[in-house]
Amino acid sequence: MKMTLSVIKADIGSIGGHICPSKRLLETVRSFVETNGTGRQLILDHYVSFTGDDIAIVMTHTKGVGHEEIHKLAWEAFLAGTQVAKEQGLYGAGQDLLKDAFSGNVRGMGPAVAEMAFEERPNEPFLFFAADKTDPGAYNLPLYLAFADPMNTPGLMLAPAMAKGFTFVIMDVNYTEGDRVIELQTPEELYDVATLLRNPERYVVESIWTRATGEQAVSVSTSRLHNIAGRYTGKDDPVMLVRVQKNFPATGEILAPYAIGPFVAGGMRGSHHMPFMPVPLNSGISYFDGPPVVSCAAFAMQQGKLTEPADAFDHPFWEHVRTRVSEKAIDMRRQGFFGAAMLPMAELEYTGIVEKLKKLDGKFSIRK
Ligand code: 13P
Ligand code: 13P
Ligand code: MG
Ligand code: MG
Repeated sequence: MKMTLSVIKADIGSIGGHICPSKRLLETVRSFVETNGTGRQLILDHYVSFTGDDIAIVMTHTKGVGHEEIHKLAWEAFLAGTQVAKEQGLYGAGQDLLKDAFSGNVRGMGPAVAEMAFEERPNEPFLFFAADKTDPGAYNLPLYLAFADPMNTPGLMLAPAMAKGFTFVIMDVNYTEGDRVIELQTPEELYDVATLLRNPERYVVESIWTRATGEQAVSVSTSRLHNIAGRYTGKDDPVMLVRVQKNFPATGEILAPYAIGPFVAGGMRGSHHMPFMPVPLNSGISYFDGPPVVSCAAFAMQQGKLTEPADAFDHPFWEHVRTRVSEKAIDMRRQGFFGAAMLPMAELEYTGIVEKLKKLDGKFSIRK
């Protein structure tokens, strides 16, 4: 059966600043989707969770990607949630709902979207990632390692289908007139892939496809909120779907790169580099409005019906990683605003610092 997996997520308000949504907010979104989605047989199944202050709605259905009714369901669930967020005085109520009227698709309206349509395998394991206090480029390194580096992924040597390599579709997210994308094939164009992915603020993996069968393995949300709003409105806090096993990397090969805890953009006011911490499902944030966090729910699916999620980063192994990431975070924070701790100017251009620099510039004089 041709199945569609859709995940649509938004920050519609949170407790105590940008920590996490309230229980009532989460329950409101969940029951809206239950009643109007699963209840009315618009979707086959759903899973609603939070990561930091972002709520994600995973939906299974047969309507294909970018479908108006599916997007409208998520949009209206977030509107219903925003009402509650306002009633409870949550911070940033409706933060990511940047447009007033729904117009067929949530793309370009604020919420992040990742979707895939595919012929469901007899068993269909997949992973749902959600990250907070960072942007979609945070997935560049883990995806590169998992899909293109045999040092990380022995499947590239051991599994015949994987040995044929993968097609990376990479988006230039600075281009705002439309989707500016490039397709590159690994292993032949590995160095070209690396050349782009080294700049995660501009070039972002949008999807990955196996070359053996043409099937899609990965879909990443690529929205840039400041491109939509024309000013800084929060980080993009990306979601991602990854199909695993058989022709795709094994779950463990996909998860392994998260042990690195690489520095990513996004901590505190969306303006700092902080290490990326893998956390259990439904974790908030804390230290320095961070560190940037990523959660992973692993599912099995049968004709669109989901099992309960297995919490991929809720395992003793990741406690060691979290301790190391915490140490990295504190080390980086020791240097405050200095150098690599803060993002480059281009990423700050919609905040007050630009005005301040303009004023200071006028006070400079050239010494005779
Ligand atoms: P499969 O044989 O199901 O692909 O599993 C292999 C595996 O997961 C080894 O890590
Ligand atoms: P969100 O983008 O997750 O709302 O975070 C805003 C922020 O930068 C808090 O420091
Ligand atoms: Mg927020
Ligand atoms: Mg957030």
